[in-house]
Amino acid sequence: MDVLAAVDPQGRDEFYEPTSPWWLSGTPLEAEHHRLMRRRSVSIPWAASTAAALTAPERARLAGTWMRRSEAEYLAVSTFSVLALDLLAARAPADVLSLCLRAGIDEIRHAEMCVRMAEIYSGKQNLPPFGMSSLPDEPERPKLHQALANTMLVSCVSETYATTVLAATLELTTDPTAHAVLTSIYSDEVMHARLGWSYLRHAIETGDAGRKGETVIDAAAQMLPRALRGVANVVEAERPVGEVTPAVRTHGLMTPAEERVIFATCVREVLVPGFQALGVPVGSALDDYGDAWASAA
Ligand SMILES: [Fe+2]
Ligand SMILES: [Fe+2]
Repeated sequence: MDVLAAVDPQGRDEFYEPTSPWWLSGTPLEAEHHRLMRRRSVSIPWAASTAAALTAPERARLAGTWMRRSEAEYLAVSTFSVLALDLLAARAPADVLSLCLRAGIDEIRHAEMCVRMAEIYSGKQNLPPFGMSSLPDEPERPKLHQALANTMLVSCVSETYATTVLAATLELTTDPTAHAVLTSIYSDEVMHARLGWSYLRHAIETGDAGRKGETVIDAAAQMLPRALRGVANVVEAERPVGEVTPAVRTHGLMTPAEERVIFATCVREVLVPGFQALGVPVGSALDDYGDAWASAA
């Protein structure tokens, strides 16, 4: 068998348009990549963008934000790759493994869509800025505890926040292209969050105590402040230069002050009740991210 011959492009769709062709290998792998990327995708009306009606500073602000988003999505590819290793080590069930590995593929799709959005505003075909994320690694603790703690960080906290901020952003977004991209990303992030909450429940039901008597619940409770701080750091981070004008908002962008309120609301109304329902103590989460933090921007 000649492995270098052109592969039969199973499931090829003649109408399929690569999202960011400048980020592909130029080899026969592309056909299979398109098949993988299409599997969960809705078609995006790329040509319907209203970017041309914006001023140059508005386009620059949006290009900067979509490049930041591509960086975050690209980082999430490595996050789910590392999490998959933790879940394998903890002998997680097959559905948890497949959904975690698929989440990494979803994040590649998200990164592709974000660089394409950046190109719409900047005219430049950039790649996502390079980045590799690492997750806390404590080899002496039980594998189940490590898998559960990192699932909380990545999925229960980060991805759940992503769904709440995307839902709020979608409410402002009237540009048809930005709306379709954010909707597509949102529907995947909902599943990425569900992966974490489901695995957390499974781990609590099946887990036993570690060598020092630390329970699964203890491992989860210890991770919670660290996970919340991780997302808060992103919310508090400096934004690309440029004003968030009313027109910019309709292309899917909120102010940092609005994002703080959304994170505080997410902690109070989603994360804290969710962890409490599973019996995980939430410590000072409500005080740490209450009204004072939300209005500090
Ligand atoms: Fe994503
Ligand atoms: Fe995600």
